[in-house]
Amino acid sequence: MSSLYKKMNYVDGITIINNEGTILFTIKFNQDIDKKIEKTIIGKKLFDVFYNLDSSNSTLFECMNKEMPVEYIGQLVKNPYTGDTYTDNISFPIKHDGVVVGAIELSKSIVSNKSFNRKNTDMNSVNSTINLTPRCLDLGYKSIYTFDNIICKNSNMVKLVEYAKNISDSSVPVLIMGETGTGKELFAHGIHSFSSRKDKPFIAQNCSAVPENLLESIFFGSSKGSYTGALDKKGLFEACDGGTLFLDELHCMPFHLQAKLLRAIESKTARRVGETKERKFDVRIIAATNINSEDILSKGFIRKDLYYRLSVVKIEIPPLRERIEDIELLSNYFAEKYNSIFEKNITSISKELMKFLMSYSWPGNVRELENYIESSILSTPAWESELKAKDTDTQFYNECPKTKPMKKILEEQELNLIHEALLITNGNVTQAAEYLEIPRQTLQQKMKKYTIDKLKQP
Ligand SMILES: Nc1ncnc2c1ncn2[C@@H]1O[C@H](COP(=O)(O)OP(=O)(O)OP(=O)(O)O)[C@@H](O)[C@H]1O
Ligand SMILES: [Mg+2]
Repeated sequence: MSSLYKKMNYVDGITIINNEGTILFTIKFNQDIDKKIEKTIIGKKLFDVFYNLDSSNSTLFECMNKEMPVEYIGQLVKNPYTGDTYTDNISFPIKHDGVVVGAIELSKSIVSNKSFNRKNTDMNSVNSTINLTPRCLDLGYKSIYTFDNIICKNSNMVKLVEYAKNISDSSVPVLIMGETGTGKELFAHGIHSFSSRKDKPFIAQNCSAVPENLLESIFFGSSKGSYTGALDKKGLFEACDGGTLFLDELHCMPFHLQAKLLRAIESKTARRVGETKERKFDVRIIAATNINSEDILSKGFIRKDLYYRLSVVKIEIPPLRERIEDIELLSNYFAEKYNSIFEKNITSISKELMKFLMSYSWPGNVRELENYIESSILSTPAWESELKAKDTDTQFYNECPKTKPMKKILEEQELNLIHEALLITNGNVTQAAEYLEIPRQTLQQKMKKYTIDKLKQP
């Protein structure tokens, strides 16, 4: 028996992701973890939440790539909610019809970080495959978003959504371009859900998340004995028959595979690795890349022939900084969303904060804005009704293209308001606090911070 099983005599956490790395389910029985946090993590990308993980050190990704269980003793997991934690964990690939569609991790929280080591579990000692439950199958294979989930009012974005709707109901391949976090995957889901393929599979595959030598068999399948350990296995094209295959980060696909992809798109057939038989399929390809249109060909990210085949329908999503009106709409939308999730009492975003949200350049686009609003709401006290900028947002202030730092401007405003309140109430702190609609104690703390002496007020 593996040493991990002796140590892991029980588990207190379960996480399930699909093969794109989206968290479908998570539950931590460890009482230290807030239930509301579990709720907000679902639907996010694993690496967006656990920011110290990537495809090279995540057991969930490694077990999908190797198609076998992977265990880790004493893994450090960092996330914005609970700080650093260590876990012992074991991850199993989840398969449906012979194809890896996700992974499940069983974890046990530990406090100390002793003998950190990682190894593959002996294939003979444990069944390497867990059957997919209908719930996971639905989440892993069906599109969960529609065009209604794309929040926008910028006229270019509105036109883009209209255009995407118009081209949805055809089998023409689509190329979606845009900086990271602009909503490429949301558009792909929208197109699928708006098409007659909506009840068929939607499978997303990130081309950068799989080792190069496994990509071909993952896409096209393999036949028994075609390489060491190869089994008769369907590829994504076969598994996705009738549906939509979303190829994310297409520029990470090696050139020789891009040629095979082009051939498969044009002939609507593919050969499993190690087979000569052509298999027919009916799959719509939606590809996405965050490389801009100037560089994509000139710097050789994608083969020209494939690019021209895919770009018949090209959707270029503008960065958030070029659609300022969407910043306001999205900020309010995310504030409402996280206010409800975290059960806070925020009813508005302060004018000052909104001004700065609208002037920041958002290099991480909508994802960065969502994460910012989420963490701001989480750290706002329950009695606060207005979402304000915080002192800790130093990085954010520094990046604001303003002559004065945001913190300074907010402090000046706060100081002015306190002076005004004390002036009106003749220096009566209780009345001034009532006037400002803040607790008396908070006002006293602020007066101390700004060294305001009420007796010296005019
Ligand atoms: N217009 C929008 N309305 C609401 N949410 C949005 C919008 N655009 C993006 N998002 C949200 O921002 C996050 C990032 O979106 P998505 O994953 O689609 O971006 P992406 O372009 O695929 O990013 P990457 O290149 O990093 O993969 C998701 O949580 C998504 O729901
Ligand atoms: Mg994406």
